[in-house]
Amino acid sequence: MKNIAILGATGSIGRSTLQVAERFNRRFRVVGLAAGRNIRLLHKQIEKFKPKIVSAEKEKEADELKRLCKDLAVKIVFGERGAEEVARFEENDIVVSAITGIKGLRPTLAAVKAGKRVALANKESMVAAGPLIQDEARNSGSEIIPVDSEHNGIFQCLMRESRENIRKIILTASGGPFFHTPLEEMKNKTLEEALEHPRWKMGEKVTIDSATLMNKGLELIEARWLFGVPAQQLDILIHPQSIVHSLVEMKDGSVLALLSPTDMKIPILFALTYPEREEALLPSLNLSQVGVLEFYKADAEKFPLLGLARHALEEGQSVPVVLNASNEVAVEAFRDRKIRFLDIYTIVAEIIENHRKREVTSLEDIFDVDRETRQRSMNLLKQRY
Ligand SMILES: NC(=O)c1ccc[n+]([C@@H]2O[C@H](COP(=O)([O-])OP(=O)(O)OC[C@H]3O[C@@H](n4cnc5c(N)ncnc54)[C@H](OP(=O)(O)O)[C@@H]3O)[C@@H](O)[C@H]2O)c1
Repeated sequence: MKNIAILGATGSIGRSTLQVAERFNRRFRVVGLAAGRNIRLLHKQIEKFKPKIVSAEKEKEADELKRLCKDLAVKIVFGERGAEEVARFEENDIVVSAITGIKGLRPTLAAVKAGKRVALANKESMVAAGPLIQDEARNSGSEIIPVDSEHNGIFQCLMRESRENIRKIILTASGGPFFHTPLEEMKNKTLEEALEHPRWKMGEKVTIDSATLMNKGLELIEARWLFGVPAQQLDILIHPQSIVHSLVEMKDGSVLALLSPTDMKIPILFALTYPEREEALLPSLNLSQVGVLEFYKADAEKFPLLGLARHALEEGQSVPVVLNASNEVAVEAFRDRKIRFLDIYTIVAEIIENHRKREVTSLEDIFDVDRETRQRSMNLLKQRY
C-alpha cells in the first residue's frame, strides 16, 4: 500500500488522480489533499477519501472546511505553508504536484526535499526552477516521474536508454483550437474559442497556453531539466490526433515513440505505479479507427510565443522565470477579458525584451525575478490596456 498526497486535488489532474486512487484503492491510500478555493468539492473529497491532512488556499476557506469537517479526524491547514505541510507530511510516499502556475513551486520543492516520489504535472515549477529542483532531488533521493503526457512518454522511451545515445527529443502538440485559423483571424479569437481544446479537457490556464502554443514552449524547457538534454536536441511537431505524445530519435537512427489514447489517467497511473504496471481498464488504442497520424512543422509566425520560449530555453538563468511570470499575468488578463488573444504575446515579448538576464541560484532569486516581472507586467497592462 502506498500513501499519496495530491496538490491541486480539485483540478483536472487532481480529480483524475482521485479516480485512479479510487479504482486502485487496495494499492493507494489518499492521506493528503491541497486545493485552492473550491471548498465544496474539497469537502466532498475529504468525506470520500478520508485524508489525514488537508490544505486550502486561504484561512477563510480553511475555517469553513473545519466547520464542515468537525466530525472527521482531519488536520486542516492553509496557504502556501499549508500546501508545503501536506507535501512533506511524513506518511506520504508519493506527492502528485498539480497546482497550476508558480504557486506550485514551494510545495513541489517541499515534497522533493522530503525525498518523496513526485508525480509532476505542474510544469511551471520545472520551467522556473529546473536546476534547483533537480539538485534538491539528487540530495534527497526524491524520484521525479513526469505526468505531462509528452514527458511521461519520453520518460518511458528512455527507461532503458543512456542519455549519450539520444540524438533528438521531439514533443508533439495537438496544435490547439487555432491550428487551422488564418493569422489575420487570430486577433478576434475569444476566450470561449480559446477554451475549446480539440483533444484534452484541462484547466483554463493550460488550455489557453495550448491555444497560444506557449504550453509547448514551457514543455520544451521542462524537458530540458527533466531529461538533462541541451536546447538544440529538443524540438516540437504538430500532431493533431494527439496519439503519439513524444518521439526520441537515437543516434543509430531508431526512433522510439509513446502512443496512447488521450486520457491523463494513463500517465497518472504510470507515475503512481512505476516501475510496475497495473491493468488500466481503459479502452485500448484503436489505430485502425484513428486511421491517419499527421505531423506538421509549427507555424512560428502564427504562434510567436513558441519562438520566445525557445529564446528563454537557450538563454536560461532568469529568462525562463520571466517568460513564465509574464505569461501567467497575461493569461490571467485574457481570462478576465482585459486584453485580446494576441496581446498575450505582445505583453510577454515586451517584458522579455526589457529584461536584463541575471543569475538565479536560489529560490529567493527566482521569487525576486518572479515578483519583479509580475509587477512590470501589471504596470504594462495598466498603461496600455
Ligand atoms: N489538465 C491536464 O490535462 C494537464 C496535463 C499536463 C500538465 N498539466 C499541468 O498540471 C497543472 C494543473 O493543471 P490542471 O489542468 O489540473 O489545472 P486546474 O484544473 O486549473 O487545477 C488547478 C488546481 O490547483 C489548485 N490551486 C490553485 N491555486 C492554489 C493555491 N494557491 N494553493 C493550492 N491549490 C491551488 C486549484 O484549486 P481550486 O480549484 O480549489 O481553486 C486546482 O485544484 C498545471 O501546471 C498544468 O500545466 C495539466
